[in-house]
Amino acid sequence: MINAAEAALITQSLEIASERGGDLTGAVYARLFAERPDLEPLFVMDADGAVRGEMLSRVFDAILDFIGDRAYAHNLIHAEASNHDGYNVPRDVFALFFTTVADTVQEACGGAWSTDMSQAWKRLLNALDHYIAA
Ligand code: HEM
Repeated sequence: MINAAEAALITQSLEIASERGGDLTGAVYARLFAERPDLEPLFVMDADGAVRGEMLSRVFDAILDFIGDRAYAHNLIHAEASNHDGYNVPRDVFALFFTTVADTVQEACGGAWSTDMSQAWKRLLNALDHYIAA
């Protein structure tokens, strides 16, 4: 479980990142495709970016539920990880999306990012891996 202090740090980092960076969609996918150019063609049908936007907003909502009430996020993440097998997105790549989000949030926070935030996100990514694994 992510404890209350870690959840507060993650929530704070998301708030600062959106205040300073606005809509992070472009930055998240630019970072993902810079690191993994082989993934961009998977979105060839997504001409208007609706799928990419939907995915990221689902991921932000899932992170907030996962560190909070955990009412649905663990099940959604496990289900989507298996759905994505069907899109030729292996589990390690699926998990990479959360790391890409964490790195983009860190960049958007700039000087407001702290070591405690790093630790809290690291714990979150480890906890998420548990639900992504097959
Ligand atoms: C690098 C990792 C990921 C890649 C490459 C990826 C790729 C894709 C692709 C190509 C689609 C469109 C499938 C189609 O309709 O043909 C899709 C849809 C979707 N993905 Fe991902 N995905 C990733 C990570 C995630 C994560 C972490 C989540 C959420 C936990 C997620 C949630 C969704 C959802 C909800 C849809 C359906 C969106 C819609 O139809 O509007 N994806 N993904």
